[in-house]
Amino acid sequence: MTALANLQSRIPTNQSVSVPVFGLGVWKSKPKECYAAVISALEVGYRHIDTAAIYGNESEVGQAIRDSKIPRSEIFLVTKLWNADQGYDSALKAIDRSLENLNTDYVDMYLIHFPVTEKRNESWKALEEIKKSGKAKSIGVSNFMIPHLEELLKEASIVPAMNQVEYHPFLNNNELFHYCESKGILVEAYSPLAHGKKIDDERVAILAKKYNKTNAQILLRWGLQKGMVLIPKSVKKERIRENADVFDFQINEADMMEIETWDEDYRTCWDPTTVE
Ligand SMILES: NC(=O)c1ccc[n+]([C@@H]2O[C@H](COP(=O)([O-])OP(=O)(O)OC[C@H]3O[C@@H](n4cnc5c(N)ncnc54)[C@H](OP(=O)(O)O)[C@@H]3O)[C@@H](O)[C@H]2O)c1
Repeated sequence: MTALANLQSRIPTNQSVSVPVFGLGVWKSKPKECYAAVISALEVGYRHIDTAAIYGNESEVGQAIRDSKIPRSEIFLVTKLWNADQGYDSALKAIDRSLENLNTDYVDMYLIHFPVTEKRNESWKALEEIKKSGKAKSIGVSNFMIPHLEELLKEASIVPAMNQVEYHPFLNNNELFHYCESKGILVEAYSPLAHGKKIDDERVAILAKKYNKTNAQILLRWGLQKGMVLIPKSVKKERIRENADVFDFQINEADMMEIETWDEDYRTCWDPTTVE
């Protein structure tokens, strides 16, 4: 099965886990709507949920997973180490809190949420321990730019499985993508819909009409065809379904190239490029 076969297709990582290519993001999903969104996503067929300690909804994610009755082993669950918990000892405590909130024995991937200066390398050492303990089946980073990765790789015993970064046609960081590829680090696109702010872009609408798909589906399909893992967020069941309906068409090469020209360094979230 290729990575683009369906929303449960997986991409292998360098750490003997494979990541479902499509997941549900739950940032800014309030607890009750988060619970309902995870239930909806699992019903639709999603098997990958992306949360974080700072989102304040780990408990609802865990509850929804249990209530779904889908075996825990079939669901790829990701959470993240928050900035205030970075450092060796505090990271070891933070994973325990997250596991308690999620009411599970392990996460499938634990990420450093942001490359906090002077803390990130100690945090990574803790994540290596967390992986060895089995509390996380795999470990990775988020918002790491090339200099942060170069620094980490000098000291790391384990190469991150994945780097979760903001990525969409309007923030098309090809240099980072190719760097990660060269190191065997999977790139996961967060805010693949540009946080909802570019869905009505006229150029997207033209392609949507051409392919008889929605604007959101064009943005998501582009990310998939580039080889990224995607975690769009919605709290609406119809959109959760719509976003996942991107495995039955192919954007042709000329249009993929056209989308490459839309990059305008448009960042909707925080900016890690200036972090030393
Ligand atoms: N590691 C990090 O630092 C970091 C940072 C940002 C995000 N993330 C992760 O990435 C996930 C996704 O990013 P994101 O939440 O920033 O933005 P996103 O997925 O790019 O866009 C979400 C926005 O688009 C709307 N939307 C979703 N589907 C739509 C559709 N089909 N048509 C029209 N509007 C639609 C949503 O509204 P409704 O919910 O009302 O549908 C929401 O306002 C997050 O939830 C989080 O898990 C990680």
